[in-house]
Amino acid sequence: MKHYLQFKDFSANEYTYLFDRAALIKKRFKEYVKHQTLTDRTLAMIFEKASTRTRVSFEAGMYQLGGSVVHLTTGDSQLGRSEPIEDSAKVISRMVDLVMIRTFEQTKIERFASQSRVPVINGLTNEFHPCQILADIFTFIEHRGPIAGKTVAWIGDGNNMANTWLQAAEILDFKVHISCPRGYEINEQVAGLAGHDHYQVFSDPRQACVGADLVTTDVWTSMGYEAENEIRMAAFKDWKVDHAMMALAKKEALFMHCLPAHRGEEVDADVIDGPQSVVWDEAENRMHVQKALMEYLLLDKL
Ligand code: CP
Ligand code: NVA
Repeated sequence: MKHYLQFKDFSANEYTYLFDRAALIKKRFKEYVKHQTLTDRTLAMIFEKASTRTRVSFEAGMYQLGGSVVHLTTGDSQLGRSEPIEDSAKVISRMVDLVMIRTFEQTKIERFASQSRVPVINGLTNEFHPCQILADIFTFIEHRGPIAGKTVAWIGDGNNMANTWLQAAEILDFKVHISCPRGYEINEQVAGLAGHDHYQVFSDPRQACVGADLVTTDVWTSMGYEAENEIRMAAFKDWKVDHAMMALAKKEALFMHCLPAHRGEEVDADVIDGPQSVVWDEAENRMHVQKALMEYLLLDKL
């Protein structure tokens, strides 16, 4: 049984399959062709943090595949009343075919997976957001072709998105230029990296953008870190992606943001709403790639 808890859980070959499959699934969706490979299967979605995209993409995606979903949150389940995560895993996984979890520490999803009878998908933890990077790379491929050999500039927090980009660079053989404010840098161990030959650290965010094929950023304060908001606003003020930064990247560079975004903080409105931005494709593609992912975890290659 396979789980998808972090990006490096799959090989480059598995990603090639998933991207091809997601393209087929997307085409069928656009043509109103039924694609119901998961009839009678049930997905449990557990949210311990807020969500718009992850909830809608998994829920709509599972229904389109012919299955159904159960939506649980900390507040309306025993998860919020300290039932051990291992007990929850044993119970929930006896009744459904697949589980998606959005939670805090990665160790929590690992503990759940260790006791689960069914595959578990990471819908975001403090450390990783693999489904988002799956969608981002699929989006890059749609617009620009293979990502191998390309350069991605990460501007901002050394957070779950940054860690996942770095893992992806090692698996899919591209490079990340990363620039984080002092005190918010990535930690190789937390990111679970094999080495340091797929990324380069820049203290100046503008230098990180030079020659990039893709410039990407994220909120300054991730979910769970709200108490640090004020101090982060001051620390991150020079890590805003603006027109001048985009001009240092390649002419054909794309801009991505996992969303939700704060215009005027981590990105200027004329960048996120400008011609290089592919953020709406990126959001939509969450659904197509996750349909491919759910199929793969339950049915293997088709
Ligand atoms: N990008 C993303 O995961 O969005 P949500 O928090 O809305 O799910
Ligand atoms: N880094 C952000 C991503 C939100 C989708 C967070 O964890 O809140």
